[in-house]
Amino acid sequence: GGMIAPASHISPPFPSQKSINLPADGSLYSAMSSVGGHVGSIRRTFGSQKLLKTENIWLLSPQFAGASIIPASEKYKEEIYFFFTEFNKTARVDEEPYRARIGRICTVDEGGIKALLADSWTTFMKARVMCGAGNTQQQYNNMKQAVVLTAQDKRAGVMYGLFSNAWGRTVVCAYSIEDIDRAFSNSKLKGYSSSFSGNRPGMVRKFNNIKNLGVIRYYPEIEDVIRPVGVNPLDLPTDDQITHAVADIVLAVNDEHYTVLYLGTDQGKVLKVLHTIQDVFIISQYSLFHNEGPVLNMAIDSQKGHLYVGTAMEVQRLPLADCRRYGHTCRECILSRDPYCGWDKARRKCIAIPPGYNLRQTSPREIVVKGRNTTVFLPCPVHSFHATYRWEKDNCKMNYPCLFSGDFCVLGPVVNTPLKEGVFRCMATEDGFKVEVVSFRLVNDGRLISASFASTLGLSALLAGVTLWLH
Ligand SMILES: *[C@@H]1O[C@H](CO)[C@@H](O)[C@H](O)[C@H]1NC(C)=O
Ligand SMILES: *[C@@H]1O[C@H](CO)[C@@H](O)[C@H](O)[C@H]1NC(C)=O
Repeated sequence: GGMIAPASHISPPFPSQKSINLPADGSLYSAMSSVGGHVGSIRRTFGSQKLLKTENIWLLSPQFAGASIIPASEKYKEEIYFFFTEFNKTARVDEEPYRARIGRICTVDEGGIKALLADSWTTFMKARVMCGAGNTQQQYNNMKQAVVLTAQDKRAGVMYGLFSNAWGRTVVCAYSIEDIDRAFSNSKLKGYSSSFSGNRPGMVRKFNNIKNLGVIRYYPEIEDVIRPVGVNPLDLPTDDQITHAVADIVLAVNDEHYTVLYLGTDQGKVLKVLHTIQDVFIISQYSLFHNEGPVLNMAIDSQKGHLYVGTAMEVQRLPLADCRRYGHTCRECILSRDPYCGWDKARRKCIAIPPGYNLRQTSPREIVVKGRNTTVFLPCPVHSFHATYRWEKDNCKMNYPCLFSGDFCVLGPVVNTPLKEGVFRCMATEDGFKVEVVSFRLVNDGRLISASFASTLGLSALLAGVTLWLH
């Protein structure tokens, strides 16, 4: 399963100063936003490692929006990303004063040498983050909040940023952690055109030469700009402005991981949103409050399966797996696309998928559909001419007839047959007994799949293949 890096809050030295505190390996990392005369900083504030800070010139009146540990397979490569917005006080009226940023440090950093960066990070780098319509001027530069979903031990995952523009309009952009990692590892440094002496600056190492430290001190920004996956902000069909966001990774019945975003709005609503590579889909929308104040805070309790939602006046709790709202038919349950829920055939109910529970009868064979227009035919071998053969999709009672039969009951693309993705089972009924003959899971190209079962096949290859492994 996924995890959300903890971001607990302790009291900052100034009451109005927004701070983010992240404990990691017995150390505490703190990001203090700029307020009044205080410039703002990223520090290691507690722990057995050397206590380090950012140089003042590295951050321009930062307001922090989030922080997350980015795990790595080797511990010494572990990093922390800090998300913030910089504000240029001296920007002209016709200039955008805000810039969204990702800053990163390595947790093994022990600072520089006596002459340079003695008490400062030697691995700090920052990058510009864009969120807006492609390369147009229509950009959202003020990052209000950032949440990260990563695997436990890998530098992979997704970052969601909540942004606003000068008119207070809000959008959500999604970023790939791999993209960000690649930019920090490979990009040129802004304003620095000479070659590096030896290793690249900003990388983890035991001894730093003074030239490298000088480069880090004066050129902390990388040239590459971080752009969202899918280029544009998520297409959310709502007129409300988003005030808070949390995210969860869900392992669904079909064994795939899905990202669910919970977005609180200025009208006191919560949108439950499914985000996949292909699309953004609003699973459900809640109006939880008596007074329509903005949602100010949300928290997920994964253990108990609850979402807490707070406004200035009230706090409400709702189940993450709210499956009863999807009616009493398999069709409604599946069409909800809620990955927390599945159809229980025996009880004929839309139920929350219990951890480790397996709703599947057998493991379906995986078929990767390349491109959106590929025509897929699924073969089911006919063993008995006394039985009736039918196809079912996603455990639904809805049946699909054989397209043509003979030695095979073939399911193909006909009207009302959604042969795009999902689990398809061929069922044979004889003397009142119903058995599953074969099942396939169609996966769209680009999805994560278990490589061992993956196959990309046309009709003839598929029929040939199926005869090979079924007889
Ligand atoms: C802030 O804006 C002014 C006016 O455009 C510019 O001269 C200055 O370089 C900017 N500061 C930074 C740190 O980008
Ligand atoms: C996919 O099919 C549609 C409609 O049949 C067609 O307009 C489109 O050009 C096709 N796309 C590709 C990539 O073949």
